[in-house]
Amino acid sequence: MAFLHRLSKASSVAGGGRLIRRLSNVPENTVYGGPKPQTSNQRTTLNQLRQKYKKGEPITVVTAYDYPSAVHLDTAGIDICLVGDSASMVVHGHDTTLPISLDEMLVHCRAVARGATRPLLVGDLPFGTYETSTSQAVDTAVRVLKEGGMDAIKLEGGSPSRITAAKAIVEAGIAVIGHVGLTPQAISVLGGFRPQGRNVASAVKVVETAMALQEVGCFSVVLECVPAPVAAAATSALQIPTIGIGAGPFCSGQVLVYHDLLGMLQHPHHAKVTPKFCKQYARVGDVINKALLEYKEEVTNGTFPGPSHTPYKMNPKDENAFTKELQKMGLDAAASAATEAAAELEKTNTQQ
Ligand code: KIV
Repeated sequence: MAFLHRLSKASSVAGGGRLIRRLSNVPENTVYGGPKPQTSNQRTTLNQLRQKYKKGEPITVVTAYDYPSAVHLDTAGIDICLVGDSASMVVHGHDTTLPISLDEMLVHCRAVARGATRPLLVGDLPFGTYETSTSQAVDTAVRVLKEGGMDAIKLEGGSPSRITAAKAIVEAGIAVIGHVGLTPQAISVLGGFRPQGRNVASAVKVVETAMALQEVGCFSVVLECVPAPVAAAATSALQIPTIGIGAGPFCSGQVLVYHDLLGMLQHPHHAKVTPKFCKQYARVGDVINKALLEYKEEVTNGTFPGPSHTPYKMNPKDENAFTKELQKMGLDAAASAATEAAAELEKTNTQQ
């Protein structure tokens, strides 16, 4: 019951992000179509996720960092959209998640909030913004909701101070996802991106930490890079959903990084760091490379833009008057250029 109470309390807080979404820049209907008006009443709530979990239906989570990726997740009906600090690596090109700042994360959060109208929006607390004190942690979480338009936050780790921070954030009325196992912000002490829970002590720690996070009110826990039996044990021991990444199939849901699952970054450096557990559902990077090469070729050989991508016209009367104006201004070459361009376009249009 206490859990359900926490859930409903947090869902009402989720509405706080709507202000930001209403402020999103909906372009005028002139040159670009722009997004449809957003209706926030369809947003996935914690109660809906809880119902899914109770029915044993897997919860889907994907990261997003900008407006287009958010729209894609929304369209696909993904349950939770995580603005992960993995942005530091896949968007900003750093080797770790450590360098990204809160201000940078907030820019990503706001763009995602404009694009994803239905998934529950979760923002990562970046490294260095919640470790010093519980008040620092609460202040950061509040900014992620108020300025980032998120519905909930995620924080990494399970040391006593992290558990206290998670508790304080929940008590401030903010829904929290915990994150245990491989916690990339702790690579300094973990000795790199290493799987966790591979010996008895480490496996027990994963389960105990997940339970401690549940105890202080987290509504879900991410289990990253742990053996499947450890994830299964944690999932069984908890009454909240576990979200696995590199943790096998026995979790309540799964999360993958957008760029990884789409095969977005098809270059040797990224191939080296794409995690072993990640299934690539597409090779979007190849499609992008091919399109860019074609574009470069067509601009270089003058086939782009052709008539069908040269849409804006003047009527012949105005064209004439314009040419005369140019001549009056002493711009004879410009007047000839305009006349020749009009004739050339007319010729290609009639040929088609
Ligand atoms: O930042 C991130 O993308 C994450 C997921 C890997 C869970 O934390």
